[in-house]
Amino acid sequence: MSLFAKKSLDVLIGEADDSEKGLKRTLGLGALIALGIGAIIGAGLFVRTAAAAGGHAGPAVVVSFLIAAFGCALAGLCYAEFASMIPIAGSAYTYSYATMGEFIAWIIGWDLVLEYALGAATVSIAWSQYLNNLLMQTVGWQIPYQWSHSPFQTAQDLPGVINGTHGIMNIPAVLILFLLSSLLIKGTKGSAAINSVIVVVKVAIVILFILLGWQFINPANQHPFTIAADAGTVALSDGKIHNYADPLNHGWLGVLRGAGIVFFAFIGFDAVSTAAQEAKKPQKDMPYGILISLAICTLLYILFSYTLTGIAPYKDFLRAGSEASVAYAINHYMPGYGWLSLFITIAILAGFSSVILVMLLGQTRIFYTMSKDGLVPKVFSDVHPVNRTPYKSQWMFFVFVSLFAAFVPDSVVGDMTSIGTLFAFVLVSVGVLIIRKKSQHVAPFRTPAVWIVAPLGALVCLAMIAGLGWENWARLIVWLVIGFVIYFGYGKKHSKVQHGLQAPTTSNKMEGYNK
Ligand code: ALA
Repeated sequence: MSLFAKKSLDVLIGEADDSEKGLKRTLGLGALIALGIGAIIGAGLFVRTAAAAGGHAGPAVVVSFLIAAFGCALAGLCYAEFASMIPIAGSAYTYSYATMGEFIAWIIGWDLVLEYALGAATVSIAWSQYLNNLLMQTVGWQIPYQWSHSPFQTAQDLPGVINGTHGIMNIPAVLILFLLSSLLIKGTKGSAAINSVIVVVKVAIVILFILLGWQFINPANQHPFTIAADAGTVALSDGKIHNYADPLNHGWLGVLRGAGIVFFAFIGFDAVSTAAQEAKKPQKDMPYGILISLAICTLLYILFSYTLTGIAPYKDFLRAGSEASVAYAINHYMPGYGWLSLFITIAILAGFSSVILVMLLGQTRIFYTMSKDGLVPKVFSDVHPVNRTPYKSQWMFFVFVSLFAAFVPDSVVGDMTSIGTLFAFVLVSVGVLIIRKKSQHVAPFRTPAVWIVAPLGALVCLAMIAGLGWENWARLIVWLVIGFVIYFGYGKKHSKVQHGLQAPTTSNKMEGYNK
């Protein structure tokens, strides 16, 4: 039994071409871009931007976005080659199974739990912040701090909350996860139309904020551009003291640390590649879908973060403006624009819901494929007799994601999501080089200058991993070790490829991925 047993590329491609069994090819380039933007714009922009600016990068968070976008574009080109070569549902997991073998595929699949499951947890926590903001703005009441924060958080300068109040659990975050998991279990037919509406609304509010906020930019807030080493200290809600003198909290290293944080805002562009099997012209449209959605988001992010850090001083984002930061900035620094704050809050709540939906769906879909391959138990691929959805898996992930959403602060789950995804990107960038060397197949889309793009992509992602600091490295290592134990204790023994049974790879028998 080999650790590097591979799925046959021919079988995979054959499965993809089998239109009888396969998912319907209905998505054109426009729909793919909408899918990408739908998955991309979310808590990363509306919550993590402020955390990166407030704690590490200051106004230079725009440069953090550029670094993160650069890394994503390079990794995205590598993703695109995989996606055009193996245009079937799945993700980096499937690609790596065919090219780098089972063990690496396992690591990626396991690692993607950080991206999808913890990503969903992060966005649900952000959802809870904006829900409280909406309640405050409309009925003048909010869910008590204790019941909307993790036990590791303590109130600091938040409006309407006594300083020092401890969190117990985040109930609204669990509630939204419950609602969306229930929706996914019922089936998601028809939600593509709703997704398109949400995408338009999300892009519209970003543009509106930039246009209206521009006139409130105070140049004093943007000088100095990077945080100075002597900027002092701030008491944080997790009880720690944030010291700007620490190397990763000021200057250009702070900007790199910020890039690791705002990288979260780009996560999801790979969701386009997971829909390859439903694309009309995957060879052409997949790479364009990935790259165009990435380019549009990067432009919006840079203008948005420039406006946000111009309106409010970056230090606000560690204290009173640490939650629902965009609404905070509008309410405090854009007099007369209360309506905008309300409108944006409602739109953000809808936007976050679509991101959570895509992530919960992506998570169960990857485990479905891994379960069909025998690497995780069969229960993850049991589909509901009527709805054709993997309902058991959806419930189990609801419980798993909820534990993080309820009891862990957003900064911790957000950074774990970033580091997990960055690590997967490193492996994909290396993977494309392996496929070039070893495989006979010529991908319809070839990464340009692959011997520069792929190593550089891996390097930029590794730099962002380095910037995320030792606490996050330790969390990633613990997660991978747990994964190794499960693989050697279960996956390797039950793997269908190991036993010469090529598993049906795709999710043919389930409802479409993004209906
Ligand atoms: N990119 C997604 C977000 O920012 C995950 O919410």
